[in-house]
Amino acid sequence: MIGLVCSSCHKEYAEYEPVWKCNCGGFLDVKMEPQFPRKITQRNPDLWRYKEALPVARDHAILGEGYTPIIKKNFKGSEVYFKMEFLFPTGSFKDRGAAVLISKVKELGLKQVMVDSSGNAGAAIAGYCAALGIGCDVYVPADTPSGKVAQIMAYGAKLIRVNGTRQDTADLAFKQAQNTYYASHYWNPFFLQGTKTFAYEIWEQFNYKVPDVLVLPVGHGTIFLGAFIGFKDLLQAGMIDNMPRLIGVQTMACNPLVTVMEENLDRLPPKEAQETVAEGIAISQPLRWRQIIDGIRETGGKLVSVSEEEITQSYRYWSKRGLFIETTSAAVTAGLEKCLAQGILFSNELVTIPLTGSGLKAPNKVKFN
Ligand SMILES: Cc1ncc(COP(=O)(O)O)c(C=O)c1O
Ligand SMILES: [Zn+2]
Repeated sequence: MIGLVCSSCHKEYAEYEPVWKCNCGGFLDVKMEPQFPRKITQRNPDLWRYKEALPVARDHAILGEGYTPIIKKNFKGSEVYFKMEFLFPTGSFKDRGAAVLISKVKELGLKQVMVDSSGNAGAAIAGYCAALGIGCDVYVPADTPSGKVAQIMAYGAKLIRVNGTRQDTADLAFKQAQNTYYASHYWNPFFLQGTKTFAYEIWEQFNYKVPDVLVLPVGHGTIFLGAFIGFKDLLQAGMIDNMPRLIGVQTMACNPLVTVMEENLDRLPPKEAQETVAEGIAISQPLRWRQIIDGIRETGGKLVSVSEEEITQSYRYWSKRGLFIETTSAAVTAGLEKCLAQGILFSNELVTIPLTGSGLKAPNKVKFN
């Protein structure tokens, strides 16, 4: 049985009701009992191989999404496994959520959706809408990198540029969303049902085991929560014996959850995001912040933040080693370096991190001499 349940009042909705939030205003989560039959291994290398764990009837890929490779790199005496999430069809891990969510939209018979984004979620939603013949409005901040904007427009989505911050963009989109279907990566519960496949793939690729620790970006936390949900599904289904530690990385320019943890707050601090090269994680009011904090606490993880200097250094370092990733992704590699230096990670631990976005998305953010 698949259903939706409100995180605030616990009201339940049927899977086929076209709702993206509860009448009480709370956000929804998907309730289901994922199965992992043995025959998964014989299926195509895409994320639909986990169809018994996905709340959608589709069983084949739309654009070839999923099952991204993992490569091993030596870094400062440690072996680190990078999951190549920037190899998705639209150039970021957001395809996981978009492929599942827009498949659900198609199943619901909806013709039009809207979303707001710092660029990558908008591009992913626009791409899968284009593939499945669904209309799409995308709200982005006016300073969104030109590569992401061009991509969204190429897919045929209607682009709405908002003069203001990422939060202003989200606020305007939320208002407009009241009378339509909001394919938001953070509001819509089906998006996380896609990003959870990140955990399933890691489990399979590590021969049905989990790494000791994952280092993950945290803006709205859609890959972080996807990992948390996915590994919990595997634990509950008896496929693994323990959860990996989940470490979240924020930029110092916008690190509300680091502040919540450090000061043991019961609300988000009212701080605006500062200018940053890691625009993908510049989220001052992450909707699902309590779930993210639960993920950190329940897994014995931690939240760290990295400076602009650390991000750009890491971006240059990995580019010179052949990995051309987005500056937002480089915040995570910078976080990895910090965790190793500060003894948060140990060199004998099996560490995995996602490289979440392609460097081609915003190639002019950092100068090379
Ligand atoms: C490349 C990249 N990495 C990481 C993130 C962070 O994702 P989330 O906001 O879901 O935490 C984003 C979000 O836009 C992104 O574009
Ligand atoms: Zn409710």
